[in-house]
Amino acid sequence: MNPADHGATPVTDDLAERTRSWSAYWSSGALHSCVGSFGGNYAGEVREFWRALAATLPVGARLLDVATGNGALPALFIEDVPEARALQIDAVDLAQVQPGWLALAPEAVRGRTRFHPGVRAESLPFADAAFDVAVSQFGLEYTDTARAIAELRRVVRAGGTLALVLHASESLIVRQAREELRHLAWMLDEAALLDTGARLCEALALAATPEGIRKLEADPAAASLRSNYNALMSQASDRAERSSCPDVIVDTQQGIAHALMASRAAGSALVGQQALAALVVQLRESQLRLRELVECALDRPAVEALLQASGASLDRLVELRFDNRELMAWGLLARLPG
Ligand SMILES: C[S@@+](CC[C@H](N)C(=O)[O-])C[C@H]1O[C@@H](n2cnc3c(N)ncnc32)[C@H](O)[C@@H]1O
Repeated sequence: MNPADHGATPVTDDLAERTRSWSAYWSSGALHSCVGSFGGNYAGEVREFWRALAATLPVGARLLDVATGNGALPALFIEDVPEARALQIDAVDLAQVQPGWLALAPEAVRGRTRFHPGVRAESLPFADAAFDVAVSQFGLEYTDTARAIAELRRVVRAGGTLALVLHASESLIVRQAREELRHLAWMLDEAALLDTGARLCEALALAATPEGIRKLEADPAAASLRSNYNALMSQASDRAERSSCPDVIVDTQQGIAHALMASRAAGSALVGQQALAALVVQLRESQLRLRELVECALDRPAVEALLQASGASLDRLVELRFDNRELMAWGLLARLPG
């Protein structure tokens, strides 16, 4: 991305739509947004990056996590900073996040960890110099960075730490997001797989009775719809087989198959069509989040421009990698002006 372009709110200015999409995602209970890559919390080099920072935090340090989601970073810090060092955590996110894990944490930790859903990084409800350190993982780049950085400079004390994990334009995560976007565009728009499934619900509802089956057998339009649907499903399977990230296709195929079966079982087209309409909403929301991800990813000049805009002095800028050595993200550690 051209660094000059960065700082604009990505993809869409429709804040309500972005908030809804992320709130829906976090309501699933996911701890973070890379569930395909890490089963539990983040691990490997990215975990080591945060662990190294945790080791430097003084007793009672006040930490702000920007764009926290369901609190993957607060959960890491709570695990990695000994309780005697009593870290104070505030975590903000635009979305209505649901960090269910916090209810299971010890009471002392709960008392020192506060989530602030519905709070934008560009307008933080904290006093000047309230924090020693600001962190963000796959978060700051989603914001209007110029305004969010101005807020971070206000709420973090002079000489405080800024630690960021940022999407990298050529990372595996971003490459896979681009591929998933191509799958979604194909299923939703080019091949209109879900629309075809919705029309087939009519036929499946008829197939609930012997009389309906006789009608269907005599209807050339129904036969043509069925063969069109079968051809699209087989193209979808071919795409999935060739893809390094086939889950979105396989899950959608299963969703459509379930909707069709539901129409047949209930003898009602509407039952399956409603299930498919809900699936389309889910896929469109996922499309929005993936577009945001791709558009906010940074190349090295853009990271350097971000650092310059923050006025912070750089301690470390590293490429964080997955265990298979594929690029995962940028890791940036800097000190805010004193
Ligand atoms: C990719 S998720 C990352 C969540 C979390 N940090 C993690 O590593 O799992 C991006 C998050 O940024 C949040 N977000 C986007 N724009 C924001 C803004 N302007 N202010 C606060 N949060 C924002 C979204 O709601 C979403 O939860």
